[in-house]
Amino acid sequence: MDKIQELTKRIRDLAREKNAIILAHNYQVPEVQDLADLTGDSLALSIQASKTDADIIVFCGVHFMAEAASIVCPDKKVIIPVKEAGCAMADMLTAEQLRAFKKEHPGVPVVTYVNSTAEVKAESDICCTSANAIQVVKWTKAPEVIMTPDRNLAQWVRRHTEQTIYSWDGYCPIHDELTVEEVKKAMKEHPDAVLMAHPECPERVLELAHVVRSTSGMLKYAKETDYKEYIVATETGLLHPLKKQNPDKRFYPASPNMICKDMKKTGLEEILRALEQEEPVVKVPEETRIRAFKAVERMMQVPRD
Ligand code: 13P
Ligand code: SF4
Repeated sequence: MDKIQELTKRIRDLAREKNAIILAHNYQVPEVQDLADLTGDSLALSIQASKTDADIIVFCGVHFMAEAASIVCPDKKVIIPVKEAGCAMADMLTAEQLRAFKKEHPGVPVVTYVNSTAEVKAESDICCTSANAIQVVKWTKAPEVIMTPDRNLAQWVRRHTEQTIYSWDGYCPIHDELTVEEVKKAMKEHPDAVLMAHPECPERVLELAHVVRSTSGMLKYAKETDYKEYIVATETGLLHPLKKQNPDKRFYPASPNMICKDMKKTGLEEILRALEQEEPVVKVPEETRIRAFKAVERMMQVPRD
């Protein structure tokens, strides 16, 4: 048995013993995704977290995701194996900044991307993910909407609605730094490939894309279409499940530089230690949680396509 197999077995045995469920985002390293009970995008994982009857949720992702699990499951112990795994975009907006932004646009509903802190969610009317942002904004039926914290996701939504959108100037550095030159180079090298892009990419990249999808949306698209080659404009961690689920197809990164260091901080040793010690625990204070939960709960009510 090699090291990965041995650690995987120890974690799985301990998880069973402690009635713990292990959730992993699609950007996690391969061995963590392979170990998890469930993998998915932010929306899928929030929904799964709300449905589980496990006593402990081990969230392999970044801090805002574990907070989201704590928001929907206040009675469960939520553990993040690496406390320092954060999200640069979520850190670009504080609750105080959002309160000031709301004052500039009084009465305008706030749609906040799940890549945000619990405190920012608590200041928002409704949440959205990359998989449902357009539906959520339309669902508000408001002529004007504030969207935070991602300016690129907001711009993508703007192209699909008549509503006026005031966006916060946040962004994901990993997606935002993808250049048109890099994408065109990949397209030249793989002329028959379909380009799938995440809406966190800048508009100039999205204009080149054949389809714009969340990470799980890309997995679904690759499975359901007959193309043989795909260029993937998102964090390179997604290549693992894409290849695993479609062994007869080929997937290429739009740029090999699309790596989120925070998503790679979690390894099997960190998971084992966290499960043994049952910490670090992520617990959103109740007053904040109740307000943030309303925004998440409203999102869950929006019909999905
Ligand atoms: P999704 O998996 O929801 O598409 O999100 C991408 C992301 O950047 C998560 O941090
Ligand atoms: Fe945040 Fe971007 Fe990393 Fe996702 S990929 S966790 S948005 S920094």
